[in-house]
Amino acid sequence: GEVARVDDLIARMTIEEKAGQMTCLADSFRPYNPPNPQVGIQNEKDLAAEIRKGRVGCLFNGIGVAGARRAQDIALRQSRLGIPLLFAGDVIHGLKTIFPVTLAESASFDPALAERTARAMAVEATAAGLHLTFAPMVDVARDQRWGRVVEGAGEDVTLGSLFAAARVRGFQGRDLRRDDSLLACPKHFAAYGAVAGGLEYGSVDISEETLRETHLPPFGSAFAAGALTTMAAFSEINGIPATADRDLLTDLLRGEMKFRGFVFSDYTADEELVAHGFAEDERDATRLAILAGVDMSMQSGLYIRHIPDLVKSGAVPMETVDVAVRRILYVKTAIGLFENPYRSLNEEAEKARIFTSAHRALAREAATRSIVLLQNSGVLPLDPARGQTIALIGPFAEDRMNVYGPWAFYGDKGKGVDIATGLRAAMPDPARLLIAPGSGILTPIDGGVAKAVETAKAADIVILALGESQDMSGEAQSRTAIEIPVVQQALADAVAATGKPVIVLLRHGRALALHDGVANAQAILATWFLGSESGHAIADIIFGKKNPSAKLPVSFPWESGQEPFFYDRKSTGRPVIDNRTEYRSRYATTDNSARYPFGHGLSYSEFALEGLKLSDTALRWDRAIEITARLTNKGARKGSEVVQLYIRDRVASRTRPIRELKRIQRVTLAPGESKTLRFSLSRADLQFVGAGSRIIAEPGAFDLWVGQSSVGGLKGTFTLYAEG
Ligand code: IFM
Repeated sequence: GEVARVDDLIARMTIEEKAGQMTCLADSFRPYNPPNPQVGIQNEKDLAAEIRKGRVGCLFNGIGVAGARRAQDIALRQSRLGIPLLFAGDVIHGLKTIFPVTLAESASFDPALAERTARAMAVEATAAGLHLTFAPMVDVARDQRWGRVVEGAGEDVTLGSLFAAARVRGFQGRDLRRDDSLLACPKHFAAYGAVAGGLEYGSVDISEETLRETHLPPFGSAFAAGALTTMAAFSEINGIPATADRDLLTDLLRGEMKFRGFVFSDYTADEELVAHGFAEDERDATRLAILAGVDMSMQSGLYIRHIPDLVKSGAVPMETVDVAVRRILYVKTAIGLFENPYRSLNEEAEKARIFTSAHRALAREAATRSIVLLQNSGVLPLDPARGQTIALIGPFAEDRMNVYGPWAFYGDKGKGVDIATGLRAAMPDPARLLIAPGSGILTPIDGGVAKAVETAKAADIVILALGESQDMSGEAQSRTAIEIPVVQQALADAVAATGKPVIVLLRHGRALALHDGVANAQAILATWFLGSESGHAIADIIFGKKNPSAKLPVSFPWESGQEPFFYDRKSTGRPVIDNRTEYRSRYATTDNSARYPFGHGLSYSEFALEGLKLSDTALRWDRAIEITARLTNKGARKGSEVVQLYIRDRVASRTRPIRELKRIQRVTLAPGESKTLRFSLSRADLQFVGAGSRIIAEPGAFDLWVGQSSVGGLKGTFTLYAEG
């Protein structure tokens, strides 16, 4: 039925209607109402005329059932073929209930949590009339200067792949035809997270092996989980813009990776092929993009303007257009849009399913599980019953405008819970919370530091809320240095000089390099952008109602200049060994370690790992070995630890990383409780991309660590043997 329906439509479509199906335009029917200057569409009336003529197949970034219904009515009743529109939008970490930014939530090291929050986001997004989200971003981010680090799962390929699949499953749910299933669009294909120097929209120059080993697996994992669309990256790889890269979008993506859905261009990225110096003009850009394998053009209007003529002149085969249209219509049939074109357009659902108390409770849980305890002298948790006077200092103390983080533009502004509100709600005597902003985020406040120092002196303990505003990370927010802004650092140093115990709450969309008054605080919590329930979640952790259990998905270097910095770097002929540093691979002022390594995160409990055992030190080619270790909660509270298993291939035909994450296991233990953890490894876990892009495993010795971060841990070794 479905194939026949699609074939029948394609047979009846004019070339203009086909190009229209392949066009996605910003939605002017609904709030957020961005005009479409590129295509000369300024309002709902203009866009309605385009839909009527069959010149649009998809609208994006508008929400609200009423507007969507008006648009869908026109498509169904007034366009010649009545093909329903697809409604897409960037629901990145929430629609109205805002969950922690993706990077933060990845710090939970718990893909099951991400699956639950993605489901909740989908329930809200579909209730607001959307069918598809441009998420998850699965780019592995190797340089913290890049602003879009905040939108992904961090620096590691294994963690990234686990979260990619979980998020796709969460968004799409079990049945694509249900009206609360939201199509996922893992993006940006590919290696956008490898832009040189972290420079946004910059170029990527990487080996085929690195592309395949580090950047493609999360996409593979998202497709295997059922994702039916993807988006070409803005960036170029090795001299070819992704949007025009046929090897990438067709041979690799479809041929090798067996992707069966359709590819969006990113926002006007096809048109940008001209600025890249890769296309002569718009027409040439259109030709290159469609021939490369871009099926749906976002926002530029290039396809509708040029495809008809390109086909008529023979520059683009009709067959290529038909294939793209077929993919798009296939996705529309896969979600049952032809039978149920008003799916997700239900006013009752819109009222009932958005910003519910259940979603807010989940946002709070996710937020508490995203907070990483970086260091703690023992000052945390605070006991609310002790009645200490707390000085809450810093620009984020009472800031409601920076709790969501980037990409939360559907969320109601100012509705997120700020830190002061969260702390007060948890204190028996809220009058004991003294507040002084001290400085702005980037600019000083007259007399602000003096007032903050006075406030600190009047208190028993200081909580310093510092970091980045929400528009300092995200798209187009690359930074040259990943540090606390100068005015805030000065504030922190002045407050530290009072000698009062200081707890730092970092707000950030990337790893930061911390210094002086910030770095030397008694306790530091990475609190990222935590979303709607931000302040409550922070209070839950500060006062010990919840025990921190998150782990860093990105390494915190000592200095900005260490970037690009990631734990799974390659070895060198001259590593630093036994503190010997002359003529060794290091920067003059910093060694190659991290201040806080990938996988690091403390708890209010103390966990001990011991008794590492391998079932065999010989791993036979087609067998597995079992690795066990015992984890004990030696603390006085119930808590959760994420135990991590890393390997190192000692000698291979290509140099291998000094460590690679292979397994994570989250365990919750009562005080005094122990548990034996079991991991299994087989040859598949030891594979890498060798010469000629072949995936291979090589016999020989491997190191293995079972630990609580990417540094240290219990160490073992085993050997892979070629013979059975
Ligand atoms: O989905 C985004 C993409 O990540 C960046 N450019 C714009 C798109 C649509 O808003």
